[in-house]
Amino acid sequence: DKGTYPHYMLKEIDDQPAVMRKLVQTYFNDAGEIDLDSDLLADLKAADRLYIIAAGTSYHAGLVGERLFERLAKIPTEAHVASEFAYNTPILSAKPFFIFLSQSGETADSREVLTNIGEAGYHSLTITNVQNSTLSREATYTMLLEAGPEIAVASTKAYTAQIAVEAIVAKALGEANGTDAASQFELANQLGLVANGIQALVDQKEVFEKIAQDNFVDQHDAFYIGRGIDYAVSLEASLKLKEITYIHSEGVAAGELKHGPIALIEAGTPVIGLITQSKTASLTRSNLAETAARGSHIMTIVSKSLANVHDDIILEDVDETLAPLLTIIPAQLISYYTSLLKGLDVDKPRNLAKSVTVQ
Ligand code: M6R
Repeated sequence: DKGTYPHYMLKEIDDQPAVMRKLVQTYFNDAGEIDLDSDLLADLKAADRLYIIAAGTSYHAGLVGERLFERLAKIPTEAHVASEFAYNTPILSAKPFFIFLSQSGETADSREVLTNIGEAGYHSLTITNVQNSTLSREATYTMLLEAGPEIAVASTKAYTAQIAVEAIVAKALGEANGTDAASQFELANQLGLVANGIQALVDQKEVFEKIAQDNFVDQHDAFYIGRGIDYAVSLEASLKLKEITYIHSEGVAAGELKHGPIALIEAGTPVIGLITQSKTASLTRSNLAETAARGSHIMTIVSKSLANVHDDIILEDVDETLAPLLTIIPAQLISYYTSLLKGLDVDKPRNLAKSVTVQ
């Protein structure tokens, strides 16, 4: 039920702080430790490489997961598009473990991979929003996203919930492996900061409505750029925009702009820089300036500690690895308002289905 909301998408964007808190309640015990199935943890510990399999937005959450698992658990991790992995499977490591990310648990492309790896005898975890969904039943283990029903075709709260659950699994595995990065990472506390940071953003909806009106509604192209984990979020930000506004948009690794995409920049083309990683912040700023010199309209979404007076959207500071949980929120809201202002069907965009059950 969308209650008093005009669209499910807006409600689901607003649900995100509560989902973050629910995940802390669900997966942490009273002592503040993570409650993970012990067989699952043993399987994860035995693995020499994690393969995250997903489609669309869930794949983008997987790209963030790569960084989370590598940083916190020190285990090599690869995210793959399910439809590619199914028919062009890479050479696997000696002891692979598979993680399926799927809001619906019904995506046919992911099911194809799960069937194949199950036949090969490999174990798997499905992280899904739908208990008893096909991917949940067919995997060895399931963890739930606890996000509540997601009805809008454009996925929002499932994405942030997937990243949070990946962080929980990565911390648990890292602790089991004895990594300092995991034991020193105060995840429950951080997810509380994330919830507050999301709330601060969704409380300023008029800011994003104005950005949509002034800089997006009349455009035919848009670019989100970033490096590392910000690049992963750029891909999701761009998907959100194209799905519901039909504006052509691309997420580009900031350093790649000058190798091609910069040719598309025209007067007024929006280029949004995502800047949450201290190591690469100044490089991304230089890449933004290169597009501005070709006439683009640049905007920045920046963590407070990296921000200056010229930045447009400031995010509360959280651990850099969890920044995607905040960075995506302005992009979700800008897409929502652009779609609304263009008079489009926000919750049911053309040509798309909520659950894609054909390959
Ligand atoms: O249910 P799933 O998470 O497996 O769905 C995967 C994609 O079809 C889905 O994320 C799609 O890209 C959404 N429309 C994104 O907003």
